[in-house]
Amino acid sequence: MKNKAKMIVREKIDNVEAVCREIGDTNNKSILDIGCGTGELCRALACNSAEIFGIDPSENAIKQAIEQGGGAKYRTATLEELDFSPHSFEVVIFCTSLHHIPDSLDALQIALKLVKSSGKIIVVEPQPDDPLYPVYRWLDDEKEVQIKAQNSIDTIVVNKQVTRTKTLFFNRKYRYASLDHLIEDMMEVDVTRTLSEKDHTAMANAFDAAVQQDKDGNYIDHWYRMDVLELS
Ligand SMILES: C[S@@+](CC[C@H](N)C(=O)[O-])C[C@H]1O[C@@H](n2cnc3c(N)ncnc32)[C@H](O)[C@@H]1O
Repeated sequence: MKNKAKMIVREKIDNVEAVCREIGDTNNKSILDIGCGTGELCRALACNSAEIFGIDPSENAIKQAIEQGGGAKYRTATLEELDFSPHSFEVVIFCTSLHHIPDSLDALQIALKLVKSSGKIIVVEPQPDDPLYPVYRWLDDEKEVQIKAQNSIDTIVVNKQVTRTKTLFFNRKYRYASLDHLIEDMMEVDVTRTLSEKDHTAMANAFDAAVQQDKDGNYIDHWYRMDVLELS
């Protein structure tokens, strides 16, 4: 047990594929994507007889999601503001959004009220010990909130509010043409992020050390974990 991180087998898949594969056929399902951003996952899940709802407090992200169309319904709101009826959804998803919500345990309790008794909550979270962390930590060190989010998931499992039916570890290649591109991407998710000149230099050094190349260009491995939680 010298290095636990190295013993984990990580599938090469991206977030959207991982969640879509887990849900399978979305026909006649009602699905809520909490913190949907610009709606990439909602578009992938949408089909004629599915009801896909995406919510996000970022007006700009929801505007972009609506502009791209695709059949999902969107609302600019935080999870805490939602007024959906209890037990409205077969699936409630947090795709890399749980650690962004100030009280992640409370967020999971809200999700538990929204999901049907036969339904599931799917949580995808970044792993703080991954190759991308030494780079992005200079702009926003999310390690603590990511650990808290994972602890919140563990709490509802230990309290037997849910059964964890699956955990998938996976690796997504994050493609950045340059450091500026990475910074731009991160700023879009949270406009309050700032970077001093000194931290910019440290981030640039970390970027150079972490970046790899394949036939499609630059990438840095970003590790994720998906937990599937079913009501027990
Ligand atoms: C890293 S982004 C993930 C976006 C998208 N799910 C994806 O996978 O690309 C996190 C999202 O959580 C949203 N968020 C932050 N606080 C939230 C809250 N209280 N309720 C719902 N979403 C929230 C942010 O606006 C942001 O779009």
